[in-house]
Amino acid sequence: MDYRQTIANKYSVRDYKDKTIDAKTAKEIRDYARTCPKLVEDIAVDIRFMDYDMVYRQLDGFAGYKGIMINAPHYAILLSEKKDHYIENAGYVGEGICLKANELGVASCWITFEDSKTVIHKLNLVTDKEVVGIIALGYGKKARKITTGAVATGGNYTQADMKKKSAGGAGRLPLQKIVYIDQWGQEADVDTLTERALYDPMDYARRAPSTLNRQPWRFLIDGSKIILTVRDDEETNEYEEQIDAGIAMLYFEGVIEQSLCQIQWKLEPVEKDYGIPEEYKVVASCEV
Ligand SMILES: Cc1cc2nc3c(=O)[nH]c(=O)nc-3n(C[C@H](O)[C@H](O)[C@H](O)COP(=O)(O)O)c2cc1C
Repeated sequence: MDYRQTIANKYSVRDYKDKTIDAKTAKEIRDYARTCPKLVEDIAVDIRFMDYDMVYRQLDGFAGYKGIMINAPHYAILLSEKKDHYIENAGYVGEGICLKANELGVASCWITFEDSKTVIHKLNLVTDKEVVGIIALGYGKKARKITTGAVATGGNYTQADMKKKSAGGAGRLPLQKIVYIDQWGQEADVDTLTERALYDPMDYARRAPSTLNRQPWRFLIDGSKIILTVRDDEETNEYEEQIDAGIAMLYFEGVIEQSLCQIQWKLEPVEKDYGIPEEYKVVASCEV
């Protein structure tokens, strides 16, 4: 998959045409879901594709922001065995499916929910796994205009260069507010990121979708080490934070592997003291 292009064109769709996905495309998405990359290889995941009539009314009032369920022709229900980091893994896997769908012209949107047991019960699922994700799928009613994201200009870049570089990052924080170098709060500048071939991977990670568009991730660069932290706040729960983290890891990894090198996320705390504030938690780190 061409991560750059797919990420650049992707956005959440809440308004779907009353039209089912054609059989060939649906099969491609299902086949991808069966074999798609995982963040943690040995976590068993089971993805069920269900149609509007089996899901919408059952979950309306229960799933979605304030219980507002998204009305879509299809849904992917992600089920996972419960193991360390299974929610981050679900974010990574689920968003992989959204990107694949997007590549095939199919729009998507994550739908939040409170409790796995209720979803299993309401959807009549027979499973020994936990529900870890609900994703709406279908053809969007209208195309959104991709607008320029906010990135402050770096030394050697003209405004036009920056516009080109940041196209697609609509409604996102500027890169400098998300990426720090050496110490917490020390904002990364575009030239340094470009010299280290990290501009693109960071700029695309910045475009990751997140619950309520909170953009809770901050990246810290320490030499060749990249550390991902995620904010813990009252607007969202731990599940949503972990899904958001998994998605950001996929975006960063997908893009850096296309341009620079393979990476392996280590899902554990880091030793060094970077002055990370209390409300941020280290999720993972990797070497580039
Ligand atoms: C874990 C997660 C849960 C979400 N839940 C909902 C939801 O219940 N309803 C909704 O309309 N959008 C939901 N979204 C979509 C986000 O609001 C959206 O990704 C964000 O506002 C950024 O917009 P964009 O994806 O169009 O760039 C969710 C996104 C994530 C990652």
